[in-house]
Amino acid sequence: MKSSHLTWIEIDGNAFRHNLASLRKLAGDRLIAAAVKANAYGHGLAEIVGLLREEDIAYLAVHSVDEAAGARQYGWTGHILCVGYIPRSQLEGVLEYHIEPTVYNIDTVARLGRLAQQRNVAISIHLKIETGTNRQGVEISRIGKFLDAVRAFPKLILKGVSTHFANIEDTTDHSYANHQLAVFNAAVKDIRAAGFRPQLRHTACSAALLLFEKTKFEMVRPGIALYGLWPSKETYLSYRLQGGTNSVLKPVLSWKTRIVQIKDVAPDAYVGYGCTYRTTAKTRLAVLPIGYSDGYDRSLSNLAHVLVKGKRAPVRGRVCMNLIMVDITDIKSVKLEDPVTLLGSDGNERIGADQLASWAGTVNYEILSRLSAKIPRVLV
Ligand SMILES: Cc1ncc(COP(=O)(O)O)c(C=O)c1O
Repeated sequence: MKSSHLTWIEIDGNAFRHNLASLRKLAGDRLIAAAVKANAYGHGLAEIVGLLREEDIAYLAVHSVDEAAGARQYGWTGHILCVGYIPRSQLEGVLEYHIEPTVYNIDTVARLGRLAQQRNVAISIHLKIETGTNRQGVEISRIGKFLDAVRAFPKLILKGVSTHFANIEDTTDHSYANHQLAVFNAAVKDIRAAGFRPQLRHTACSAALLLFEKTKFEMVRPGIALYGLWPSKETYLSYRLQGGTNSVLKPVLSWKTRIVQIKDVAPDAYVGYGCTYRTTAKTRLAVLPIGYSDGYDRSLSNLAHVLVKGKRAPVRGRVCMNLIMVDITDIKSVKLEDPVTLLGSDGNERIGADQLASWAGTVNYEILSRLSAKIPRVLV
């Protein structure tokens, strides 16, 4: 597609709908909370909310009040679960944007309880249980006290109980996930014995949804799979070993730019900061107007490739703040402002987020979520 932008991100609506249909099949009759935190994993909150509004999705999962406010601004009228900590100064946002907060400390519960009383409105909360990730959550030994605090405020509704797995995507050995699940189930039993009837138990991220029937409960919270990527090689392998098909997920995002200068350099010439690359022969370079400030990691220096006319062009020298140089010596008829694919497919070639992540020594989640919000997103 033609774009007037110098650098832009394309969002493939059909691929997104395909992934959603795949995940819906896996979820069965459970509710889906679509994880749209971190600018919808870099895809653009406005664009992804726009796509989700056309679907029968119950919840968005966001990280902050700001993200919830953004989702409302883009027309989301469904439920919003906030999975991140909401600072005391922003708790009023829970009412303003109709957020269902994840709670795991008594101070937040008391403040929300008083707010609900003052305004005479109900606030639905989701209690996060610490089952072994040691990130957010109430320790099992403190659940009783926590429930007492909730009980003190009749306007608080304990709507959900959740947890998050520590080791479900990085391994094909799922014993730790099974342990966490057992802790979660015991906690839910205690919560019910204390007289609470939470409607929604939710634990499943993408890997759990793809692999574990018993993690799905009443709601699932997929993120990365919505965007067409596997949480890890291990998840992909486990899924295929269970007989799953290859076509269940399709990547949604492509990142493109245009050549801003073409130059011929002599043999033995240095390229870029630090003189980390030196030509061995006459070389034609294309200069591209993206860099680490856009989310093209500096660790990709002298390592990654981009696609020009369906061929791989290696990055030469260091990635700069706003520019990179790539080698187009062997690619014919390249012109100024020709399009270049940084992430995505061109002809039969593809550079996916997994490939960039592997070059950069990180995970696809980081590659996507660090794509600068200032790059225009274009729905195709
Ligand atoms: C609490 C919570 N739930 C769900 C998700 C979605 O995880 P994934 O992107 O692996 O599906 C995340 C993402 O990190 C999360 O923090």
